[in-house]
Amino acid sequence: MSEIKRIMINQLQQKFSSNDSIYFVEARPGFPVIKISNKWATASISLYGGQLLSFQPHSQEQPVIWLSDKVIFKKDKAIRGGIPLCWPWFGSNEQFEDQPAHGYARISLWELINISTLANGEIKLELHMPCQQYCQEYQNINPSFHVDLSISYIIGQELAIDLRTHNTGDTPVILSNALHSYFNVSHIEDVSVLGLDGATFIDKLLSAKKQIQNGSLQIKKETDRIYLDSNNDIILNDSGYKRQINVSKKGADSTVVWNPWQQKSHSMDDMSDNGWKSMICIESANVDINKLKLNPGQNHRLHTTISVKKLVE
Ligand code: BG6
Repeated sequence: MSEIKRIMINQLQQKFSSNDSIYFVEARPGFPVIKISNKWATASISLYGGQLLSFQPHSQEQPVIWLSDKVIFKKDKAIRGGIPLCWPWFGSNEQFEDQPAHGYARISLWELINISTLANGEIKLELHMPCQQYCQEYQNINPSFHVDLSISYIIGQELAIDLRTHNTGDTPVILSNALHSYFNVSHIEDVSVLGLDGATFIDKLLSAKKQIQNGSLQIKKETDRIYLDSNNDIILNDSGYKRQINVSKKGADSTVVWNPWQQKSHSMDDMSDNGWKSMICIESANVDINKLKLNPGQNHRLHTTISVKKLVE
């Protein structure tokens, strides 16, 4: 993979200077971050990984999205928290073992293409992943892989994300994707996840044993599950923060739920010892039997909207 090119913050600032709801900082040299603050919310987006790092509507006292307080910005390492983008595979690559876990998107430096203010004051940001640069190594071993990836974020009272994959080659491609969303919760044991009832899931911690979800999901131990054919809206009830996070999705037929719990998070260099208590990953995805097949010229959109309201108990 080619070296991460240092993008000068002042170049970005100059190019997008007309929008006074945004400014640029560097998480560390070579890792530009867009900071957004408009009448609805604050948010930040890292060009490394093309991923959202934070989102907090002004109506909320607590951030909606979790970012590790030990987050590490380092080339070839995924950012722990926010919404990393898993693409074009999920987990390890089944064919080529030495390829990076969860694919290239989350460890590539994305380009900021456009920023616009919508009629109601929401800000829309459009980013593009230069696949010809970052997928080169993968293309050498998989020459038919010619795929374009872009994403847009709309920052308003709600957060809207649109991940677009386009097969630009002349052969069909099979791929997976996921918005690996880390949600900020009051305490992992005080939340329940609705919208999965009756869905078949693969328990990755029980040798991929398939089971059926009965009712809502409470997390009481390490959890790593892929819910298949699961395209209902997901509701995350948080009794501690007295709020409900709603994840509505289109073009995502799987839902992944992950919490590393105590032991695993202690072994991670980018998560504090208590980090696992305040996060849950609920990922809108297309994985396993829900992998995507894109014919030449075909587009796929994975769209989610994340909104928050008061929990009525
Ligand atoms: C989840 C996977 O999506 O991501 C887990 O289901 C994995 O198996 C987790 O452990 C975190 O992955 P990573 O590569 O960001 O540490």
